[in-house]
Amino acid sequence: MDKIAQFVQKSNCNATTVAVFGAIGAAVVAFKALSFFKVLVDVFFRSGVNLKKYGAGRGGWAVITGASDGIGKEFAYQLASKKMNIVLVSRTESKLKALAQEIEEKYSVQTKIFAMDFAKGDDKDYQSLKTLLTPVEVTVLVNNVGTNHEIPTPFEEESDKIVKDIVEININAAMKMTKIIVPGMVSRKNGLIINLGSFAGLVPTPYLSVYSGSKAFLSSWSQAIGAELAPKGVVVQNVNTYFVVSAMSKIRRATMLIPMPKPYVRSVLGQIGVSGGASTPYTSTPFYSHAIANWLIDNVFNRAFWVNQNYNIQVDIRKRALRKREREAAAAAKNQ
Ligand SMILES: NC(=O)c1ccc[n+]([C@@H]2O[C@H](COP(=O)([O-])OP(=O)(O)OC[C@H]3O[C@@H](n4cnc5c(N)ncnc54)[C@H](OP(=O)(O)O)[C@@H]3O)[C@@H](O)[C@H]2O)c1
Repeated sequence: MDKIAQFVQKSNCNATTVAVFGAIGAAVVAFKALSFFKVLVDVFFRSGVNLKKYGAGRGGWAVITGASDGIGKEFAYQLASKKMNIVLVSRTESKLKALAQEIEEKYSVQTKIFAMDFAKGDDKDYQSLKTLLTPVEVTVLVNNVGTNHEIPTPFEEESDKIVKDIVEININAAMKMTKIIVPGMVSRKNGLIINLGSFAGLVPTPYLSVYSGSKAFLSSWSQAIGAELAPKGVVVQNVNTYFVVSAMSKIRRATMLIPMPKPYVRSVLGQIGVSGGASTPYTSTPFYSHAIANWLIDNVFNRAFWVNQNYNIQVDIRKRALRKREREAAAAAKNQ
């Protein structure tokens, strides 16, 4: 208090000035507290738009890319459980066939499968997929397929193939799938497009620079087309995802911050149209712990701090990954 009094005296501040600054400070704190409270209300109490609006139980079809594993597979189960017909698109045909059969038996819905390698970016594949989709009413598109750097790697050392694959799979596939599907949604004035975003798109991530950039693209593009499509009855939702247990994340055990795909996808589908922890439009951070993390990133410290945090985390992961590679190479050499 003494220091404040001295400051007031020294700087010739009068009581009114102090009161004004005090009020501004209190308003800022109150605003932050309110925004945090809204996040909690969103993730714990609000439910999103019912999927019936998007054809669940009414013959609507959901197209899911990267549907044979991880988060995409879980979208397939949960959308089928809501009585949506499902188109599964992914790389490995045998996995798609087995999943389609399981889904038809379990949920009594129709399925279609299409095996393609998105990394090839082959126009013929997209044309064949378009033909397959022509007779069905696609009401939901989940742009889920994604790939990442094998390990955190300095950009200049990353292989050209990995850079190309990330751009082709994470960026071009989402745009090409949307181009195929959105005209039908616009003509029916109804549709939902879910794009699988990442915290790496929210905070630039050194050593995963191309993946991070691809998810930043997805975020910006989703917001732009979200605004274009909203008046036409089509909802776009970029989903900010922190870690989820999957082959891609290489994480096997769930924690409070790293859910299994099942609760994660449940939170996405339960909060359509609800922003959760996200502060950008046409975006949602629906899983409760991810939402709180998103709020902290947006409200505590600045971006430079979080980029630096990411830098330190990735440097550490890279060190461990390189040591693992060395161990595996030594073990392989021993077995020869
Ligand atoms: N897991 C996380 O912690 C996390 C965090 C943030 C964002 N995300 C995002 O969530 C999405 C799903 O990730 P995930 O963790 O569920 O991945 P995942 O478990 O590795 O599954 C990837 C799926 O995509 C398919 N796929 C991969 N490359 C393909 C290609 N070239 N062509 C066709 N299909 C291909 C795989 O098919 P096959 O089975 O045939 O290989 C598989 O079905 C991605 O967009 C990812 O960036 C994930």
